Amino acid sequence: MTAPTHIRRIGVLTGGGDCPGLNAVIRAVVKTAILQHGIEVAGIEDGFQGLIEDRVRPLSSTDVSGILVRGGTVLGSNNRCNPRRHHVGDDQDGNPVHRDVTDRCVEVAKRHRLDALIVIGGDGTMAAASSLVEKGLNVIGVPKTIDNDIVGTEISFGFLTAVNTATEALDKLHSTADSHHRVMVCELMGRNAGWITLTAGVASGADVILLPEIPFDMEAVAKYIDERMHKGPGFAIVAVAEGARMRGGEQVVARMVHNSADPVRLGGIGQRVADSVAKLCRVETRTTVLGHIQRGGTPIPADRILATHFGYHAIQTLMNGGRNRMVVRQNNIFGDVDLLFAAGKQRLVPDDHPLISAARALGTSFGDGVPHSHYPDPKPAVVV
Ligand code: F6P
Repeated sequence: MTAPTHIRRIGVLTGGGDCPGLNAVIRAVVKTAILQHGIEVAGIEDGFQGLIEDRVRPLSSTDVSGILVRGGTVLGSNNRCNPRRHHVGDDQDGNPVHRDVTDRCVEVAKRHRLDALIVIGGDGTMAAASSLVEKGLNVIGVPKTIDNDIVGTEISFGFLTAVNTATEALDKLHSTADSHHRVMVCELMGRNAGWITLTAGVASGADVILLPEIPFDMEAVAKYIDERMHKGPGFAIVAVAEGARMRGGEQVVARMVHNSADPVRLGGIGQRVADSVAKLCRVETRTTVLGHIQRGGTPIPADRILATHFGYHAIQTLMNGGRNRMVVRQNNIFGDVDLLFAAGKQRLVPDDHPLISAARALGTSFGDGVPHSHYPDPKPAVVV
């Protein structure tokens, strides 16, 4: 197939927090574009920052050989940059000053003769891309995030690798919890969407799963753990999303990144839960914060395949005349939706999700007091 005459050269960038599988998408985009359609590809470094600063380099199919299995992104990424609100410094009082540099981005894209941009990113990156779309650039999005919270697609690449990492961590915590008769609390990523915590929690058989979508009651968590410690196996695993919060309470903020378009960074709820459990149940607790380990490392095969599909579909969508679309997977079928449909929104875990129902049926607590004790008082010994 030869390229439609209006598409001769495209740019590709990775925006937002990195995630396993970014390189697999870049490889699929570059190889499909060059080998199948004969169009040139330019790589833009560090997300939109590279477009603003004109850091654009040609990518050949040799450049992307061997990157399929590598974590991170060979292009670099940036989760602080939005062309519409670009941080240009601080005022005298130390407040960040932002400027709209969309025109500059369009200028750089024109200078490099980019007929379209492939933007690999999450909801924030898609929202940031909207300013370029308004100025006439054709943007094709590829949904990326370990959080799996992008609207319009049932899955984003990177999620399954993060779940794998989180599951392995929870599995390891099981054996040490058992040996020491402790409660091990593991804090996992997921700001407003608890997909990683739910999926890894169920996969590893965590006893308590605390999600941002289901505010928890500390007394209910303590009651459940108390029974498990004193009438059950004598150890417990709590998987808690960084965005989980107590009923009527707030999310725990670790820090603010003031030059970021999305400045809140969460963290600390795991330690709070562990401290409360120790106090209320009079048991020993320990906290593990898995953090960025969930974003790093080589993608598992399922993510390499998903990323390859997405990269290939992004180019096919473009070559079929698509404008401002985001590639998605729904019911296992690849397709595309309006790019701006996903921008700035989040796909949360519904509280009646089948996995939640299954876990509840198995006695898992979601900290809302729903399942009751699975450890009835031992029956008195029968005396004959
Ligand atoms: O969006 C992905 C995510 O991993 C969130 O779950 C997490 O809160 C955030 O990124 C951390 O971002 P940073 O790299 O700025 O610490």
